[in-house]
Amino acid sequence: MRNENEFGNHPHRDEGVEKETTSRREFLAKAGLMAGGVGLLSLTYGLTWAVEPQNCAFPRSSTAPVSFQPDRNLAVRTRKSASTLTATEVQRLKAAYTALRRLSSTRPNDSRGWLRQANAHCWYCGGGLNGRAGEEIHGGWWFLPWHRCYLYFHERILGNLIGDPTLTLPYWDWDRAAGRTIPAAYTNPNTAANPLFDANRGRTPTATLPTSIVGSQVMAQVLAAPTSPLFMGSDASSPNSQGGRLENGPHGAVHIWTGTSFQSPQQGQDMGILSTAAQDPVFFAHHANIDRLWDVWLQSSNTHQNPTDSAWLTHRWTFYDERGRRTSISVADVVDAENSLRYRYDDVAPKAMAMDEREAESRVTLGPNAITKTIPVPDELHAKIMKGKAADEPAREYVLHIEDVHFPQHRSAIVHVFGNLPRDEKTAALSSDRYLGYFAIVPRTTKDTNRKAMHRHIVLQVSERIRDLLKASKELSVTLAPVTAEGKPSPSKMAIGKLYLAED
Ligand code: C2O
Repeated sequence: MRNENEFGNHPHRDEGVEKETTSRREFLAKAGLMAGGVGLLSLTYGLTWAVEPQNCAFPRSSTAPVSFQPDRNLAVRTRKSASTLTATEVQRLKAAYTALRRLSSTRPNDSRGWLRQANAHCWYCGGGLNGRAGEEIHGGWWFLPWHRCYLYFHERILGNLIGDPTLTLPYWDWDRAAGRTIPAAYTNPNTAANPLFDANRGRTPTATLPTSIVGSQVMAQVLAAPTSPLFMGSDASSPNSQGGRLENGPHGAVHIWTGTSFQSPQQGQDMGILSTAAQDPVFFAHHANIDRLWDVWLQSSNTHQNPTDSAWLTHRWTFYDERGRRTSISVADVVDAENSLRYRYDDVAPKAMAMDEREAESRVTLGPNAITKTIPVPDELHAKIMKGKAADEPAREYVLHIEDVHFPQHRSAIVHVFGNLPRDEKTAALSSDRYLGYFAIVPRTTKDTNRKAMHRHIVLQVSERIRDLLKASKELSVTLAPVTAEGKPSPSKMAIGKLYLAED
C-alpha cells in the first residue's frame, strides 16, 4: 500500500494538482464579486451564496514534502471550550480568521488561505464538482487522525498569521447542556462583519441542538463503544470499511443540523455538505470537540485503545504548515497530541451526565418513509446468544450492520434505529431498550452528477435487551426511522443495501 496520500491512493496520481489556476474564479464567486456591481463587498465575509467548488485540487508543487517534526520548544497550548473564551481570546480568534480570509483574497494560490484550506477538506472527502478527489478519509479509521492533523495545521496557520503561536482553536461542546447553540463568538454579531460568521448556516443564534442527537443518552452510547472499530471506524483499505459511532452519530448530525434547513433544500451548505463544510469557521470548533471526544473515549476505560496496526500508524498525508511548507505527517505523529502537536484539552474527564426530562421523553415519529425489515439470525450466532458467555470469557458484542444507505438527490437525514418494536407502533421512545442508536448521513455534494455512489457502512451494537429477545426468536425486526435535523419525519425516501447481524 502506498503511504503518501496527498494525491494518491487514487488511480490518477498526478491529477491531484491543478492544470491551471481555476480557484480565483471560485474565490471571486464565493466572495460575491461576480454578481456585478457588488465589488464593495470584497472586504466583507459571507455576504455570499453557496458556491460548491468545481476543483478542490491543491496548487501545483514540485517540491518534495518535508517530514513533520514536533516542535518541543513550543509550550503546550490548551484548547478551551468556545463558551469559556475571554473577550480577549475571542478578539484574537477573530483577528486570526480575518487574516486567514484576507490571505485567500490577496494570494488565492497560497495553500494556507481560508478557501484553499476548505478545499483541502473537500479534496479528501469526495472532491469537487469536476469529480476529481483524493483519498477518502471519512467512513473509516482515517477519520479521527486525518482531522487531528488538519486542525493542527489550521491552528498553527491562524497563530502564525497574527504572530501568536499560543493561539488555540476553541471547541464547540455540544455534548454538554450548555453548549447546544452555535458558540456565541461565531454568531455575535451574526453578520458578515464577524469573520467567524458564515452566511450558509441553517440556524439562528438561539436555535438549540435537539437532545435526540447530542443528549446525554446518545453521548453515553457513543462513548461506551467498546472497540476502536465501533468507536472510530475500521480499516479503511477494506472494501467493507465502516465508519465509527462518533463519526456517523453526533459528528454527522451536528453537520447536518448546522448547515441544513429542510424548509429550504438549497441550504445544505456550508456545514451540511462535506465539500463545503470547512468554509464555515465553526467547522473547526465542531471538529475540535470531535478530537476532544477521542481523548475522552480513551480516558474513560482502560479497554478503550487506539488501533495498533502498522497500516494505521504508518499512514501519511501531506498538509501545508504555518510557513507554507508541504509537510508529510503520519498517524503515529499525532496519536500523542500533547507530546508531539503540543496541545491538550482543558477537560477530557468522562462525565456521568444526567438525562434531563425533556430528553427522557423524546420520541420519534416513524413516519411514512420508515422501513421495517426482518432479518434472520444466523444459526451459529443464535447458538452463541443462547449459550451466553462463560464467566471467564470476554463479553461478546453483537453488531447490526447496515450497508449502502442511500437518499435521493444527495439529501441528508438522521436515521434512528430500533430492534423488535411492537407491531403497528407509530412512534418510538429514544429511552426505550429497543433503541439501538442513530446514524447521520452527511452528503458530499448538492448535485448528483459526476460522482461515484457514496458507500456508507454503519454498525450499531445490539443492546442486551434485544439479545434477550433474540433468544426467543431467530429473527430480528429492524426499524429505521429517518428524520430531519429538527426531528420531524424525513420527506426523503431511503434505500438500504444490506442488513445483517454479526459478532464484532
Ligand atoms: Cu471531514 Cu466533519 O468532516
